[in-house]
Amino acid sequence: MEEYQQLAKGLSVGIIMDGNGRWAKQRGLPRTAGHKKGAEVFRDIVRYCNDLGMSSVTFYAFSTENWARPTEEVESIMRLFGNYLTMAYDYKKENNRLVFLGDRSRLSKSLQDKMNDLEEKTKNNTGMFLNIAVNYGGRQEILRAAQTLAQRVKDGQLEPQDITQELFEDCLYTRGQKDPDFILRPSGEMRLSNFMLWQASYSEFISMDVLWPDFRREDLDRALQEFQKRSRRFGGL
Ligand code: FPP
Repeated sequence: MEEYQQLAKGLSVGIIMDGNGRWAKQRGLPRTAGHKKGAEVFRDIVRYCNDLGMSSVTFYAFSTENWARPTEEVESIMRLFGNYLTMAYDYKKENNRLVFLGDRSRLSKSLQDKMNDLEEKTKNNTGMFLNIAVNYGGRQEILRAAQTLAQRVKDGQLEPQDITQELFEDCLYTRGQKDPDFILRPSGEMRLSNFMLWQASYSEFISMDVLWPDFRREDLDRALQEFQKRSRRFGGL
């Protein structure tokens, strides 16, 4: 554990939880069973990231495109997310700052209330940022920031040439947080799927051949070892 704490301390990580459907199919189970198992794994990996001393972790739970799935599947994901917020998450004990990325206006009123309440209750915590992306899309996030800044220009508060990267970043859901050092995608896929498009500009991408419901602490250890081997130059030499 100590070895991995050294590797992980202060890191910011993005995780695309993928492969729940395939995991269920392999077992002849409904896709919803894969999400249920995926939610259990999520809970354990959150605790592990805390123990490792990471500075922020972002989990991709539901994208702006996932509404295209059957209603039953969408409802099951929302239910698991709601259960986590009401029952599984102990905001006093875990000391995380919870932040929800995405457009929550399409979610149920009760989910929105829980999300707002938890963000408020945890905002002065001192531990890692726990970001959960729900109804999130990187393009939507960038568009929203552009609209916010355009409105400020229209209101005469800002000149277009005053728009800097820092100002733009202040309008993203991840305001005040470090960009991800690496983005991890289990299930062998090699794409970002609209995840953290702005923030990922210099993130290392790590694809792992394990389905999310089978993902274990040791897999995160392996990703940390892989990350350590990468040489990051940020465009320099
Ligand atoms: C991707 O796998 C997974 C999702 C779209 C849903 C992830 C949701 C959870 C793990 C549960 C709820 C969230 C929380 C935060 C408790 P996929 O269905 O696309 O898998 P496939 O590519 O194998 O079909």
